[in-house]
Amino acid sequence: MNIMGVVKHEVFDYDRVDYKAFWQNFDRDYEDAVERIALRRLTADMQGSCLEIGGGFGRLVNEYAPRCTEVLLTDYTAHLVEAAKQRVQSLGLDNVECQRLNLYELESCGRQFDNAVCVRVMHHVEDVSAFFQQVNLALSADGVFIFEYANKKNLLEIGRYLLHRPNIAPFEYQPSQRGSGIFYNFHPDYIKDKLLEQGFVIEQELAVSIFRNRWLKKLFGKRLLCWLDKHLQKPLAALHPSPSVFIRARKIKQL
Ligand SMILES: C[S@@+](CC[C@H](N)C(=O)[O-])C[C@H]1O[C@@H](n2cnc3c(N)ncnc32)[C@H](O)[C@@H]1O
Repeated sequence: MNIMGVVKHEVFDYDRVDYKAFWQNFDRDYEDAVERIALRRLTADMQGSCLEIGGGFGRLVNEYAPRCTEVLLTDYTAHLVEAAKQRVQSLGLDNVECQRLNLYELESCGRQFDNAVCVRVMHHVEDVSAFFQQVNLALSADGVFIFEYANKKNLLEIGRYLLHRPNIAPFEYQPSQRGSGIFYNFHPDYIKDKLLEQGFVIEQELAVSIFRNRWLKKLFGKRLLCWLDKHLQKPLAALHPSPSVFIRARKIKQL
C-alpha cells in the first residue's frame, strides 16, 4: 500500500523475457495444442465482445476472436503488446485492438465486455480477490469469464508429496509461491471460493495438460497424448488431476 492508502500490486514483468522463444525453442507443442483444444471448447458459443487479459503476443487470439464482434487484447508488457498487434494484423483479425493494461486496473479501460479470456496469467497474480473483482467490473451482466490457473493439487504433485519430495504443498488451501518471484500455484477450492466471493459461479471446468511430463512426451509422442488429453479433459475435470485447469465462470452478481 502506498502513502495515499492505495494498494500497489507487484507485477511480474516480462520486459526482458523472450516469451515467443518459450514456445518456439522448447518442446511445448503438446501444451500449446491441448490449451487450444480447451479454449476452443469453452468459447464455442462465444458471442459479443471479449477482453483478453495478459494476452502476451496473441498466441491464442485466433482461437476465439473470429466469433466475437470486437476484442480488446491487453497485456502489461509493452513489447508483447507490439508483437500482438503484428500477429493480429498478420492473421487479418480486423476486430481486434491491442492495448497495454495492468490486470489490477481493468476498470480504467472504461467499458464493459460480454466475455473475458485469461490464460497462463493467474500464476502471476498475488491478489486473486483484487483481480477477480476487476474482472467482475469489466464484465457486463451475465458476462462469461474463461481462464486458466496452475493447479497445485495435481497428480504429479500429490505423487511427490507421497514420496516426501514435494515442490509445493498440494493439499494446503492457501496459494503456494514457487521460488521468490510472483509465481503462484493454486488449490481448486481456493479458486472456487474467490470466484464466489467476487460474484461468479463456475459453469464448466476442464483438466488440461494431464500428461505434461517430458518422459511421457518422449515415450508416446504429441499426437497420442493430445488425443488422450482431448478425451479426458471433461470426464476427469472434477478430480483436478492436471497441472493446468481451465474454467468457464459466469458473473451472477454486480459488485
Ligand atoms: C505466461 S504469459 C501468457 C501469455 C498468453 N496469455 C499466452 O497464454 O500465451 C503471462 C503474461 O501475463 C502478463 N502479465 C503478467 N502480469 C500482468 C499484469 N499485472 N497485468 C497484465 N498482464 C500481466 C505478462 O506480460 C505475460 O504476457
